[in-house]
Amino acid sequence: MKQEIQKPYQLLANCYDSVYGNDKYKDAIIQYVRKLREKYSIKTDIILDLACGSGFFLEQMLLCDLIKKAYGVDLSPGMVESAKSKLRHYNNIQITLGSFIDFSLPQKMDSVFCMGDSINYIDSIEQLSLVFKQVSKCLKNEGFFIFDVIPEYLCRLSDGYESEVKAGGVCYKTSSRYNPETKVKSSIMTFADGKEEHRQIPIEIQDIEQTAKETDFELLGAFSSMNFRELEQDSLRIYCILRKIK
Ligand SMILES: C[S@@+](CC[C@H](N)C(=O)[O-])C[C@H]1O[C@@H](n2cnc3c(N)ncnc32)[C@H](O)[C@@H]1O
Repeated sequence: MKQEIQKPYQLLANCYDSVYGNDKYKDAIIQYVRKLREKYSIKTDIILDLACGSGFFLEQMLLCDLIKKAYGVDLSPGMVESAKSKLRHYNNIQITLGSFIDFSLPQKMDSVFCMGDSINYIDSIEQLSLVFKQVSKCLKNEGFFIFDVIPEYLCRLSDGYESEVKAGGVCYKTSSRYNPETKVKSSIMTFADGKEEHRQIPIEIQDIEQTAKETDFELLGAFSSMNFRELEQDSLRIYCILRKIK
């Protein structure tokens, strides 16, 4: 019988932190937010972690006393459960199930973060403006929107990529393809108990500039790393800092 392919982050949710939550990444995130506060005076008292995943980012912010109140929203029930469980001892955190373009919060945010190329999971590039508008709605005037995305350059490199990961007592294989015509990067992850598909679309700096102009954001900076390295033609990732215009 043919096995049904599941939505992303159903099976991966069980071992996400073991694969991605290493000390180097934790440290990089903390340093990045500290530098953002220095360089752009971003406020982080009340934040939303959009596509919060397992709550990994929020946990680092809490441990370093960088936030007072935080919200997390994610589309995957497995990731939401994992975040709720990890952050259950904090009474200033609220995690809910929701999508980039459909969530509501009880107050306005100082900053919204969306890390780990999560926005690339939108269905089409036209959806980018819906995400920006939704984020704008929940931000205070002059609030910040911080995220990173992967461009087509990386998607093309990932075509044909195969890997095997063993982490947290789980073993899975990843097989990635990129179709330049449809502009879809598809990764099939095969676990002992099933498969899931991750579909992402590339997002370029021009898409971000254009969408920021059409919505009420100004692009303050775009870099290729969390160390604020200059963006190049062959950058693998784009880190963006946007501010909501008054
Ligand atoms: C690569 S993970 C990043 C998680 C987290 N931000 C981090 O940096 O560890 C991508 C996350 O995006 C979430 N996601 C995908 N599509 C989404 C959508 N339409 N709305 C909200 N979250 C979504 C997934 O469930 C997953 O948790």
